[in-house]
This record gives sequence, structure tokens and C-alpha cells, in this order.
Amino acid sequence: MKISVFGCGYLGAVHAASMVHLGHEVVGIDVVPEQVESLSAGRSPFFEPGLDELLAEGLATGRLSFTTDAAVAADATVHFICVGTPQRHGEFAADLTYVRSAIDAVVPHLGPGDVVVGKSTVPVGTAERLRETVQEAVPEAELLWNPEFLREGFAVEDTLRPDRFVYGLADTGQAHAAAARLDEVYAAALAGGTPKIETDLATAQLVKVAANSFLATKISFINAMAELCEATGADVKGLADAIGHDARIGRRFLNAGLGFGGGCLPKDIRAFMARAGELGVDQALTFLREVDSINMRRRVRVVDMAREVCGGSIVGRRIAVLGAAFKPDSDDVRDSPALSVAAQMQLQGAYVVVTDPKAIDNAAKKWPDLSFTDTVEDAVSGAEAVLLATEWPEYVGIDPTWLKGRVREARIIDGRNCLDPAVWRAAGWTYRALGRP
Ligand code: UDX
Repeated sequence: MKISVFGCGYLGAVHAASMVHLGHEVVGIDVVPEQVESLSAGRSPFFEPGLDELLAEGLATGRLSFTTDAAVAADATVHFICVGTPQRHGEFAADLTYVRSAIDAVVPHLGPGDVVVGKSTVPVGTAERLRETVQEAVPEAELLWNPEFLREGFAVEDTLRPDRFVYGLADTGQAHAAAARLDEVYAAALAGGTPKIETDLATAQLVKVAANSFLATKISFINAMAELCEATGADVKGLADAIGHDARIGRRFLNAGLGFGGGCLPKDIRAFMARAGELGVDQALTFLREVDSINMRRRVRVVDMAREVCGGSIVGRRIAVLGAAFKPDSDDVRDSPALSVAAQMQLQGAYVVVTDPKAIDNAAKKWPDLSFTDTVEDAVSGAEAVLLATEWPEYVGIDPTWLKGRVREARIIDGRNCLDPAVWRAAGWTYRALGRP
């Protein structure tokens, strides 16, 4: 099939390359010329495992291209909207500017029978309005909502082998015909047994934010338990293992630590609260405020912990921070707990040196006042405390004896509960972690 993909960021670039892998012909359209240039040369503008290989494969087939010219969408019949919906400045609500301009860009090039497929995360009610815009221009074109659940770091895998498809559609013959076209796009995964839920537009939009709210709640739940553990001398890791064995609860997303960040969970729960307020059901989501607060408190707690291990003050202390990305296998620093804590410690008088395997460039753009270095060795040299803030495998596997030879004071805060306290203490370290004795 001939497909256009509007927006070539984390979602769109992976989607475009994946659709070519599935046998389709795809043009990716983005308003940022550098993004288009980089993708056209087979270089992913951000770090995502497997994407460079997928781009190379796609470009070699001749069926993948990128451009800033929306007019090329005229050759396609299925158009995916994959642009970002960031948090609006100064408020919780989502900024829909990019979604609206993507729709405005595609509409003049639609023909009868074309299908516009929204994948961006939007406040419920948006898709219905966008469908009207599409059909005012071309009554025989259809808009479906097909939310995307990919995780950064696993984006290629999640796109090629999703755990479910959700289609939101109007209950008309034309919309059902459009859904059948989308089935053709996803034919391989559907034939492989990936479940599909067909529902109305409102439910499809809600599914995405409900899923992210649930995940955020799960993380904040275990972080709230970590606060209890800190007050009682209990161990949140053992607690998570024990409750996680209950299949109704499950162990995944129960890792206590610095909490959630990134381009999705924080802004999605806020936009969801804002939308609930507009709909007059704000009480239904009041708990998400608490989820957000628990999450933010973890960052404050780590700064306090740094102060404690440094003997009461971090002023003038050299602190090494291992990790800048919001999670491993990503160079994304949007709302990164690691960077947020690093910046706070620096603002409170510490001399902070940050390292990360992939995210240094992005981090330095965001927080130019922090010091950055490529290697753990440089970061920890002379450090009076080390904070493990992102659980990259190379940090989890660090040899405590090797590290001890490089720091000034052997004090470590395990912000992701990913080190073995017994091993580190045996190697002579003062080991502290969130929610652990
Ligand atoms: C998330 C959703 O998982 C994905 O389905 C959606 O499409 C986009 O948002 P992503 O932002 O890539 O994906 O990250 P995710 O893996 O969900 O992690 C989010 C944050 O939670 C990270 O900062 C991570 O460190 C943190 N986290 C995750 C925890 O603190 N504890 C956990 O147990 C799991």
C-alpha cells in the first residue's frame, strides 16, 4: 500500500520504517528539514535500538523516502498522523498545534476513499473534530483513531509486533471500509494473531491515556510504598517481589526508585486531568494529582539523600551522576528524573558531573550549566558521592572495587534500586537506595 506518515519523531520515524519492512511504500513528512535530511541519509536523529538498521533496509528497497513537502501525500491512500502533543506552556493541557497543522497539511491532498489514521496521543474528543475537518473537505475520506503504545528503547519491536491494535471508528459503512484498509496495512501482524479491538472514537482515544495513567499509578504506588519502607526499615524491593507474585498485581512496572519521566507518562496524566476538568469529571482523576506528587517527591528525596550521605550539606561537593536519559536505551531527556535531580543538586551548590552513554548531547542542550563527560571514569574522578540515576546495563554492571579506586569518597545512591547492596557494602561503599534499609 502507499502510505504517508506525518511527523517523523520517535513515533513517526519508527512507524514509517516499520511499514516499509512490512512491504508497503512509505513517505515520511516532517516540517524540520534537518530531521528529513538525516532520515533520508539513513541516520536516525535520535537513539532508538534497531532503527538505523530498519532505515537502511527501507531506503535500500527504494520504497522509503522522507520529505518536507506535504504534497507528496497525494500519491498515498493511507495517511498516518504521528506528530507530538507536548504539554502546553504554563498549563496541564496538551498542545494540539502539531496535530491540527498535520491535518491541515494532509487535507488538500486527500482523495475519495483515502484513510487518515491518527496515532498521536490526544485529549478525548479531538478525533471527532478532526474527522469533521477531513470530511468537510472530502466527504468520501475517513478518519480512524489507532493509538500507539510503543515504548522508547523497544519502539521497533513494539511497532512490528504490538501486543494489540486498537481501532477507533465512527459507526458508518465508510468507516468500516476504512478499518478494512487498515487491516491490510497491518495484515502480517493480524495474521500472526495480534488481537484487535474495534471501538468508537472516544474509547480509542481514552485507551491510550488510560493505559499510561495506569502505568504511572503503578509506579507511584510502589514509590509510595518506598516511602513507607523508608519510615519502617522495610525493603521495597522484597515487597514488590512478594506482591508481584500475585498474578492479579504482576511484577512489571513495580520498580521503585526515581520514578517516571519521559515524553509520555508525565504529560499524558496531566493532559488527562485537564481534559477531565473540561468534561466536568475532574474528581474522577483527582488521584492522578497524587500520582504526580508522589513521583515528584522521589526527586526531592534523592537530593535530601545526597545531602545526608555528604554529612549534611552538598555545597561545594563534587557529585557524579550516572545517567541523563529518562530511562536506559534512550537518548531522550524530556522530563528526565536523572537530569532533574542533577540540576537541583547543582542549583543547591554541588558541583555535579553527569555522564550517559547516549544522552549527553541532548542533556547539555537542556542544562548547559551542568558539567558533562563521556566516561564514567571522568565523571566519578574525585567524586564525594555517586548517584546512579538511569539503569543503563553498563552502570548496573560496574565493578564496585574498580569504581572505589576512582572516587574520593565511596558513597553511592542507587536511584533505580538496581545494584546489590550486599556486594557494594562488602566492597567498602556507603550504599543508600530509595525504600531500602
Ligand atoms: C510509555 C508507555 O510505556 C508506552 O506504552 C507509551 O506508548 C508511551 O509511554 P515510555 O515513555 O517509552 O513509554 O517509557 P516507559 O518504559 O513506560 O517508562 C516510563 C518511565 O517510568 C521511565 O522514566 C522509567 O524509568 C519509569 N519506570 C518504569 C519506573 O520508574 N519504574 C518501573 O517499574 C517502570
